[in-house]
Amino acid sequence: MVREILTLGSEELARTAVPVGSFDSALAELIKDMFETLDANPGIGLAAPQIGVNLRLFVIKLDDGIPRVFINPEITATSAERSMYEEGCLSIPGLWADVSRPKAVSVFAYDAKGRPFNLDAEGLLARCIQHEYDHLDGKLFIDRLPPHKREGAVRQYEKLSRQSRRKKH
Ligand code: NI
Repeated sequence: MVREILTLGSEELARTAVPVGSFDSALAELIKDMFETLDANPGIGLAAPQIGVNLRLFVIKLDDGIPRVFINPEITATSAERSMYEEGCLSIPGLWADVSRPKAVSVFAYDAKGRPFNLDAEGLLARCIQHEYDHLDGKLFIDRLPPHKREGAVRQYEKLSRQSRRKKH
């Protein structure tokens, strides 16, 4: 089932999510819904808090089409080298901004069946893992911007959302 994606201003997006406790059928259903929701939207990653579920998991599907699930993830290492890349977020539709992050990360997580794995990622995958991981700690990509740029981005987003509301009327 495609779920509604919460947008900037929703309190659910600012919470610290809690670890997944059991790998049961409810979790399998949630993961299925998250991929259906991701497929129905122009995004490459989705974290559970974005659909109002306060659990530490996210899903990623890049252009390679491989569905990737990260449950109770931990970023275990980050590269000293950083890169700048323009990010967007399904929870802040229409807004894009350059965000600086480590270029590569190592992550430990569990897959959908509860099997632990380690992954070394770079490029877009590393970028996406860090962006989605932030959602689990109640952080959005605009929170990674310098304060004055964050304020400008929020103003721009508010203007955009006012315009799109007007268009719908
Ligand atoms: Ni996002």
